[in-house]
Amino acid sequence: MSNLANELNARLEGTVVARVMSDLGRRMFFPRGIVAQSAEAKARAHRFNATVGMAYQDGEPMTLPVIRELTAGLTTSESVAYAPTTGLPALRTLWQQRMIEKNPDLKDVTLTNPVVVPGLTAGISLIADMFADPDNTLLLPDLFWGNYRLTFAERRLCRIREFPFFDNAGAFNSAAFTEAARGASSGGKLMVMLNFPNNPAGFTPSPSDVDRIRTTLVNLAESVPIVVVADDAYFGLNYSDKLYTQSIFSALATAHPNILAVKVDGATKEDFVWGFRVGFVTFSFKGMTRDHADALETKMAGMIRSIFSSSSTLSQSILLKALQHPDYAAQKEQARKVLEARFRTLQSVLAAKEKEGRAPALTPLPCNSGYFMSFRCQGINAEELRLTLLDRGVGTISVKDQYLRVAFAGVDERDIKELYREIFDAAEALTPS
Ligand SMILES: Cc1ncc(COP(=O)(O)O)c(C=O)c1O
Repeated sequence: MSNLANELNARLEGTVVARVMSDLGRRMFFPRGIVAQSAEAKARAHRFNATVGMAYQDGEPMTLPVIRELTAGLTTSESVAYAPTTGLPALRTLWQQRMIEKNPDLKDVTLTNPVVVPGLTAGISLIADMFADPDNTLLLPDLFWGNYRLTFAERRLCRIREFPFFDNAGAFNSAAFTEAARGASSGGKLMVMLNFPNNPAGFTPSPSDVDRIRTTLVNLAESVPIVVVADDAYFGLNYSDKLYTQSIFSALATAHPNILAVKVDGATKEDFVWGFRVGFVTFSFKGMTRDHADALETKMAGMIRSIFSSSSTLSQSILLKALQHPDYAAQKEQARKVLEARFRTLQSVLAAKEKEGRAPALTPLPCNSGYFMSFRCQGINAEELRLTLLDRGVGTISVKDQYLRVAFAGVDERDIKELYREIFDAAEALTPS
């Protein structure tokens, strides 16, 4: 093991991080190589800086005229230069500031400075690398974003354990969560992934559900170290005032010294810039000091350096300027309202269907937020339904042959009724008489 890794591990000794790190996480460090040496040179090499692998002219990063034309409004440092490994400092600071505004319970909580990654997927995968070993289990609701399978199960050989997301009354199944969490620790730790608003159900729990999740994890943390990841991809898209509107990370950040809370979020969906590839990873645990936070960020810097080195400067610069723009908040609220209007229309379509005697083949699952809603298919196969819909020119997603996921965020409000008419028609046509 490198001395630098040993040094970081010593700084984290005695904390939950030391108890939950994977073998790879323990080995990870940030080398005192090109990146670190060029950062030193930036501060001290007043005459010539011949460190980093970038071409400069008259003190500015070189660029081709066509690129300059296409990035007018940005300096070449803001467009084509390498960004620091963990992201543009001003963007990290501002993202954290906004995170605290949106999650007031995080005020006065010691957090790591958000580390920039190329999208939430990269953040989730780095977390899997950092904490998951082959003998660990990841606890998930039985409706989850399929990519967790690749990141945790296939790449890290981790087992996946599912709990029934909803009870018979259509509420969050806290009892099933508690029971599954009690049985899901393996390899000396418990790993939990919570994604609200959920993909594929579009569900966010209530404050009392969140209380119960917290209580379950706090009780378990007495006997086992826990890593709990909040995948906040769809943060802020809430369409009911009965929901827990902060990230569940806020409820867990200082819940217990044996719970490492991880927030993975990003501009992808929150700021309607899917292809920008800008995500963030933030950590907290009760008792985390600034030194622990720095050591953890340095581990993450090593992780980043070893896979993609840094994230896109261009995307980060544009995002930073957008976040600082005086019209940003109003424009974002406007976009959120567009999605909410689609949700409201969808709700009215479902209510009307229920009134007229719901198609027995399709039961809508609880949905109050996000981009998606899902139907549970009864007596028909979801994949068959999807293919039938494709023949009608309608694209949806089938999950486990049992659920049909509909991304209502992708369809204009004026077309929502027609979309659902097609879905109900196709389901009825497939239902055996
Ligand atoms: C729950 C969830 N997490 C993460 C992501 C991926 O985000 P990104 O595109 O930033 O990698 C998605 C994208 O569909 C998602 O649905």
